[in-house]
Amino acid sequence: MTKPLWIKHAAQLVTLASDVKGPRTKEAMSDLGLIEDGSLWIEDGIIQAVGTTKELEKRYSEKLHEAEIVDAKNHLVTPGLVDPHTHVVYGGSREREFEMRLEGATYMDIMNAGGGIHATTRMTREATEDELIKQTTRRLDSFLAHGVTTIEGKSGYGMNLETELKQLRVMKKLQEQHVIDIVPTFMGAHAVPPEYKGREDEFVDHLIQDMLPVVAEEKLAEFNDVFCEKGVYTPEQSERILEAGKRFGLIPKIHADEIEPYGGAELAAKIGAISAEHLLKASEAGIKAMAKSGTIACLLPATALYLREEAAAGRKMIDEGVAVAISTDCNPGSSPTTSMPLVMNLACISMRLTPAEALTAATYNAACAINRQEQVGSLEVGKQADIVLWKTKNYQELQYLFGVNHVKSVWKKGIKVV
Ligand code: NIG
Ligand code: FE
Repeated sequence: MTKPLWIKHAAQLVTLASDVKGPRTKEAMSDLGLIEDGSLWIEDGIIQAVGTTKELEKRYSEKLHEAEIVDAKNHLVTPGLVDPHTHVVYGGSREREFEMRLEGATYMDIMNAGGGIHATTRMTREATEDELIKQTTRRLDSFLAHGVTTIEGKSGYGMNLETELKQLRVMKKLQEQHVIDIVPTFMGAHAVPPEYKGREDEFVDHLIQDMLPVVAEEKLAEFNDVFCEKGVYTPEQSERILEAGKRFGLIPKIHADEIEPYGGAELAAKIGAISAEHLLKASEAGIKAMAKSGTIACLLPATALYLREEAAAGRKMIDEGVAVAISTDCNPGSSPTTSMPLVMNLACISMRLTPAEALTAATYNAACAINRQEQVGSLEVGKQADIVLWKTKNYQELQYLFGVNHVKSVWKKGIKVV
């Protein structure tokens, strides 16, 4: 039996414990469940008690000598960060496109000329499973080093059955091999594969008839995502794909209104998507519809920065009652980063979230966006002991000192991994 773990004297312990069930909205996004001189007792990877150091000292007085003790004096302790939107499994890289964009090409110009998602698709189709595992492991290590303990991962650089399955199987293997938890999403409709150019509806039929059943049968994904964007999939095509996924038990997500307003937010609300992603150009009506339907806005401020676009209206969305989560969007084109702390900083700077809201968006609401709120996203009795000890003394300082990695230690299921 492993020793109990006692983390004590945290200057600030952010528990995010709350009576609010489901994704946090409005003022609830600012309620961090803060405990000063906070303390956690962990056994077998599960949180057994949360309180002040004094309370836990008293409660476990008989067992204190058995425990491994971590003194978090002067430091902030939070739940492990959750990244609810990544394209982490891919072959190759696209640094030349970075230069091209700085020279004036747009993201869509590059994609329409066969680069962008198509370039990564070619490199991912060519890569072996082992090569993908090796490349992705490096990125997972980096996520962990930045305090991220659970991520979502999308397929979508295959766009044929063979390579989509290869990406999803890589995630399944990594779920077993790596300490990070990976929650898989099928995104066969990430772009229109070149072999189907001009025959988009045929590809949609093919995806629905030949891909979705196999993905569902092999239980390789929990969510189904589509790039609903002018020049990629129309709202009608997206709806067909997402409704078909529902029939196979896959929960809809949607890349919506990233480059142009296209009714993506409205569609997300209409079909009851768990989340809508990007939303840089979401309409007023779309935002209102999402607040009403309870669809989580998964906002990606690092992507906006990287594409030199104005970030999504995060402040407005929260004020309108939308539950906001944030994510890296880790991918080789529009956001090659694994730093959720940077994303939290950007959520404050470019979307005017408060430091407390940004932390909720990167933990509890992020967990809700991938249906993991029962296991992770807050520090409560019975939950996984996924914990970050930061070098900073409080959560405000974490968001204030930007562009640096403040992680001191990370525990995954009660085991120290950083
Ligand atoms: O979420 N917008 C579409 N998909 C990704 C980018 C993928 C890529 O460029 O490789 C995104 O930003
Ligand atoms: Fe994405």
